[in-house]
This record gives sequence, C-alpha cells and structure tokens, in this order.
Amino acid sequence: MTNQLDKKSQAWSALFSEPMSDLVKRYTASVFFDQRLWRADIAGSLAHAEMLAAQGIISAPDHASIVDGMAQIRTDIEAGRFEWKLDLEDVHLNIEARLTQLVGDAGKRLHTGRSRNDQVATDVRLWLRDEIDLIGSLLIDLQRSLLDVAEANVDVILPGFTHLQVAQPVSFGHHMLAYVEMFSRDAERFAEVRRRTNRLPLGAAALAGTSYPLDRERVARTLGMVDDAGHAAVCQNSLDAVSDRDFAIEFTAAASLCMLHISRMSEELILWMSQNFGFIHIADRFTTGSSIMPQKKNPDVPELARGKTGRVVGHLMGLITLMKGQPLAYNKDNQEDKEPLFDTVDTLKDTLRIFSEMVGGQLNPGTGHKEGGITVNPIPMEAAARKGYATATDLADYLVKKGLPFRDAHEVVAHAVKAATSHQVDLSELPLAVLQEFHPAIGKDVYEVLSLRGSLNARNTLGGTAPEQVRVQIGRHKTRLGP
Ligand code: ARG
Repeated sequence: MTNQLDKKSQAWSALFSEPMSDLVKRYTASVFFDQRLWRADIAGSLAHAEMLAAQGIISAPDHASIVDGMAQIRTDIEAGRFEWKLDLEDVHLNIEARLTQLVGDAGKRLHTGRSRNDQVATDVRLWLRDEIDLIGSLLIDLQRSLLDVAEANVDVILPGFTHLQVAQPVSFGHHMLAYVEMFSRDAERFAEVRRRTNRLPLGAAALAGTSYPLDRERVARTLGMVDDAGHAAVCQNSLDAVSDRDFAIEFTAAASLCMLHISRMSEELILWMSQNFGFIHIADRFTTGSSIMPQKKNPDVPELARGKTGRVVGHLMGLITLMKGQPLAYNKDNQEDKEPLFDTVDTLKDTLRIFSEMVGGQLNPGTGHKEGGITVNPIPMEAAARKGYATATDLADYLVKKGLPFRDAHEVVAHAVKAATSHQVDLSELPLAVLQEFHPAIGKDVYEVLSLRGSLNARNTLGGTAPEQVRVQIGRHKTRLGP
C-alpha cells in the first residue's frame, strides 16, 4: 500500500529529508489514548462526506464507497480487529488510512475541505456531549438515592453542626436534601456546558475556513448539533473554532464542583461511620479490612472519592494552564487536552455510579426494592444531639416570645447552659425552679420547647428542617426528577 498517509513513517511528504526518530514518534503520537474518539470520528466523517456529496464536491459513488468503508471499519473496531498504528499518529490518520486502503481514491477525497484541526475539535465535542448526557442520568440516579434515604428518615434527628460543634437539631432527611440541592445544581451546570459544547467546528478547516462551498449547517444538523430552538449550532469564527478548548475547561470545572460535593459528603460519611459517631453504617461491600487489625472496617470508597477529587481538580488546573499561553489558532499543545478530560469523565462517572448504590442500595429484582444502602442509626444520632445543648436557641426564642429582647434572652440562656454544664445535665433536665432562677418568665411549657422534636417542629419556615417542610421539599424534588 503506498498511499500518502502510510508513508508518514518515513516523512510527511517530499518536503521532509529525514524520518522521525522512534522517540519523537512516541512523543507526538496520541493514538493510544485518542482512539477512544473513534465513534465520534466516524460520525463526523460520515456527516462531512454526506455534505460533500450533497454539495457536488465529491461524487455519489465516492460517497457510497466512504459509507461502505466506514461500516467495515466500525465493525472491525467493535470486534477488536482494527490495527491501531503508532506510525499513523492519531485516531484520525489511522481511520483515514484504513479507509483509503479499503476503498481507494474515495478515501483520499474524504479530507477535502477539512483539516485535522477542525476534525479533532469536532470529535472531542461530540464525544463530550454524549458523555455529558450519561453524567446527567447518573446524577438523576444519585439524587433519587438520596431522596429515598431522605424520605425514610424525615423524623430522624441528628445534631446539626457549625464549626463541627453541635448547633441545632436537624432532620436527617433534611441533611440528605442539602446534597440533593448540590447535585441538582451540578446537573444544571452540566446542561449549560452541553449547550456550548454542542457546536460544530468542522468547516473551519485548518484555521481560516475553506475554498470549497461547504454547508456547515447541514453537517451540524446531521450530527445533532442544534441549539434549544432546534437551529444548527455552528462555531462562527474559524480561528476560534479550531483553537479554543474552553468547553473542556468548563466541563472539568463543573466536574470538579460535582466531585467536591461528593467529597464533602464523603467526609461526613467517614465521620459518621467512625465509632465516635456511630451514626451510619456502610454496606460491607464498600469497605475493606485491615491486614493487621482484625476489627477494622474502613470506608475506603468515600475516602478514595475524597482523594480522587484532588485528581479532577488537578485536571482542571492542567487544562487551564494548557490554554493560557496559546496564540491563535491551533497548536499541538491541544493534543494534551485529552487525557485529563478522559480521566475526568471516567472518574466522575464511576464515582457517581458507586455513590448512588452505596447510599441508596441496589435494586433486588425479586422484591422490586432497593437493598444494601446506608443504614441509619437514629439512637446515637439523637443521643449526640442531646449532648451539645442543641436546644439552647429554642430557649432564647421562648424568652423572646415572653417579651425579652433577643440579646438579653441570649445572655440568660448562656447562664443556664453554664449551670447545666457544671451539673452535667441537659437543659431539659434542669428542674423548673432552677430554670426560673435564670428568668421568672420561664414556665412549665418550656419543656416542650427544650425537646429535640419541639425544636425541629418549630423550624417550620420555607427551607427549614421541620418535618413538614422536609416533606414539601421531597415532593418538589420528586416532581422535578419525574417518575
Ligand atoms: N492529534 C491531534 C490533536 O489531538 C489532532 C490534530 C493535529 N493537527 C495538526 N495540525 N497536527 O490535537
């Protein structure tokens, strides 16, 4: 076979007087990581070829040969029979060379009006768009898992913390819903990024556009690159189209935030699982033992997720740095966008999958119910809430309702807490006569106020932790996520 591309192992063209060294070949090649773009590469080529034929730039028989050849290549890649060659540098040249080998001159015509610069930008965008769709559905699964746990634990009370000091009692369901909010914002962010990712660079050619009468909007529509109104979405400046990778950067930024939310949740799961809390249990299949301490069950999965967050944030820094000094238009630096982007997608998808299952459990087809999610231990949670004078604010609010200014009430309660601390009892365990020494307005009805449940029920404002509010929010999320 003597087509141009196969001769690349010697040199690009007659212009080159010596071949690449093996080290340089390995250094410059991307085929061993960018081959995962093959589906997008074939889809982009087919859309381009179809348009070339429709515009009369290539003949109908050439177009038919390209379609046949690509079908063969697709079959071979799927079957693992395709031979990826380092000498052919990247996924684009590998597929094109094989096409030419299969169908001859028609294969050589495919690259008319196109450059690898607009080709690779198109491939990455197409690939990422589909990955964003998958991530969107994984985020829905995770939110559903959290909602299930929230719904089952609306009336379970745990201490809410600020500064990791016991602050006020909150519903465990409410606590879970805080994460649902975070992941719902992540989903919004990914949907935004998808809009800007799903635009067509092809037709920008190397950097300046092309002299052939291309119909770029036709290609965009073929590839599903359309805006919200269904109009073809095409990059409108050829220099920008081939060179910017801001869509990859903002995707990785959204992924970093999502991992950061996972990481915060991980930190809580790890704390809650420690013997000092004992708030929850994670199913054994998400934990590991120790090679020396027989009693250990370590929460490796949340710990690793917390660790992998650093890796994704690192990819974000890498991509930003990759871009910052590049002059227009395409530079080979951009080949370095792929590994961080691919690893970000892989890490995020695996993490979301595993967290949905670890939190919400796995569907048992026999019973139709999910099993094996986190186990919630309400008794230690309530006991912990009792320890830290979590209802002190409620006592202050009670005094305000009896007519004291809030600042004075705050001071009265501080004295009461000091006394309770020295007797090592909760506020609710102080006898009425003792409480009345701090303020005569305190009556028998104070004990309802000092109870954890009374405190919870009192926080009945929109977005508050009262079970009534939590149920309203669960209903809203369910409607939002659909059946
Ligand atoms: N493998 C290259 C990349 O990932 C494809 C584009 C190469 N273009 C070029 N002019 N060398 O960016």
